[in-house]
Amino acid sequence: MKIALASDHRGFEFKNKIGTFISELGHEVIDCGTSNGTDSVDYTDYGIEAARSVSRGESDRAVLICGTGLGMSLIANKVKGVRATVCHDLHTVEMSRRHNDANVLCLGADVVDHGLLEKKIKLWLETPFEGGRHARRVGKIMEAEGV
Ligand code: RB5
Repeated sequence: MKIALASDHRGFEFKNKIGTFISELGHEVIDCGTSNGTDSVDYTDYGIEAARSVSRGESDRAVLICGTGLGMSLIANKVKGVRATVCHDLHTVEMSRRHNDANVLCLGADVVDHGLLEKKIKLWLETPFEGGRHARRVGKIMEAEGV
């Protein structure tokens, strides 16, 4: 898959780690920044780029990282076709794929358990959407934004 990555300064080091890991798993990484290291930037500018990349079909999915994951999810969910969820543990990561067909994963660099990071990314990339009744519900979410 093609995976867009974006972070602000708080998530910058995380983004690099995640990018390397995703590449090692055989996926193509599209880095949407920040490329300003840990210099303060606005998460909105980078999150929207990655979310638009998913919306335009240039990426299959995206992983966004800020301090809490919250700002990234707010901006990403403004973009049509994006279903972004903040996931703090393995259960929410798995359910975001199984039930919500999330195409954008938002992580909080300040709150995530660093030891579980690779496990979470792998789980999110590999867990399928269950469809069925969940497809009806996801369809209603898409309908609400006019997709
Ligand atoms: C930046 O200080 C911080 O607000 C940002 O990383 C994020 O947590 C916003 O939701």
